[in-house]
Amino acid sequence: MKKYNIAIVGATGLVGSTFLKVLAEKNIAINKLFCFASAKSKGKKILFKGKDYPIIVLEGKNIKNKKIDFALFSAGGEVSKKFASVFIELGAVVIDNSSAFRMQKDVPLIVPQVNIKAAFKNKGIIANPNCSTIQCMAPLKALHDAFVLKNVNFTTYQAVSGSGIKGLTDLKATSKGQTPAFYPHPIFNNCLPHIGNFLENGYTEEEMKMVNETRKILQISNLSVSATCVRVPIENSHSVQIEAEFEKEPSKEQVFKLLKEFDSIVLVDDIKNNVYPLANLASGSDKIYVGRVRLDLFNSHIVHMFCVADNIRKGAASNAVEILEELIKNQ
Ligand SMILES: NC(=O)c1ccc[n+]([C@@H]2O[C@H](COP(=O)([O-])OP(=O)(O)OC[C@H]3O[C@@H](n4cnc5c(N)ncnc54)[C@H](OP(=O)(O)O)[C@@H]3O)[C@@H](O)[C@H]2O)c1
Repeated sequence: MKKYNIAIVGATGLVGSTFLKVLAEKNIAINKLFCFASAKSKGKKILFKGKDYPIIVLEGKNIKNKKIDFALFSAGGEVSKKFASVFIELGAVVIDNSSAFRMQKDVPLIVPQVNIKAAFKNKGIIANPNCSTIQCMAPLKALHDAFVLKNVNFTTYQAVSGSGIKGLTDLKATSKGQTPAFYPHPIFNNCLPHIGNFLENGYTEEEMKMVNETRKILQISNLSVSATCVRVPIENSHSVQIEAEFEKEPSKEQVFKLLKEFDSIVLVDDIKNNVYPLANLASGSDKIYVGRVRLDLFNSHIVHMFCVADNIRKGAASNAVEILEELIKNQ
């Protein structure tokens, strides 16, 4: 069996360390593993499958002369902009978690269960979508193929781990009454309708990611999309309320069947027994939990559903490793 040289960029972070966990769980055939992080982590070691790997400081001189097949990036957009091309020049395929390249025309933006074929046409870089976008693509694709999506509204309830270690630290600190170091307000006991910077149009960067990335992944360039993104004081797993309007009129039975049969979705909808998707059900899993599925009371073309997934796993690391698995299978 062929083995691959794999680099993790941002290996000490929440997403980077989960890359390693998922690579081990999926038993990806690794020949050499290179763990990159910032100068702050110089001297640290990362334990992977019982072996210690030293952190390599991300600098040109530490990258060149290495033979790398795949590089998984999760060290922020600026790092990706500066270093992705260095790895590509060395012959690596980069799977990038940041937003740096997502909307570039020649960069595939991939959720494997929805549009993996586009990944096979990559030019050295594949983008992993935004976490809250990823989890909404499977349920929308399941229904779009049958009823043709026309209009979608997202309302998100996003965990603090979506901001990396800084978000988790702020939740802990503000729960003890300390001043927030990262969010503009205490996240403890508050919901902040503010993720990413505010833009000229009144939306936030996170909201515009959901708008633009949904159109690109589902390949519906004129899709009407709106989003309100809210940070909530929970540690892990994002929840999203999706309101989707279709050209054709769906029946509740068809909607349930299509969601149940779609790869990566677990339908959790038994309201008589108080069973619906919850953050602590999704945490640690790579599945997308969908429930509270209802037809709109006043417009029979609208479906409402509540969708929950682990933002660090399916929303970032696992989605990227699933892309890697498919690239390997397709070689
Ligand atoms: N958290 C999520 O749910 C999520 C979901 C999707 C995408 N993402 C994206 O993934 C990226 C990382 O997120 P995270 O949550 O893992 O953040 P994090 O926990 O704060 O980790 C950041 C990682 O980047 C490294 N890094 C920072 N600056 C660097 C530099 N100049 N050179 C080399 N390495 C550097 C850090 O290394 P040091 O420890 O040495 O500083 C650390 O390994 C971001 O682009 C984020 O938008 C996150």
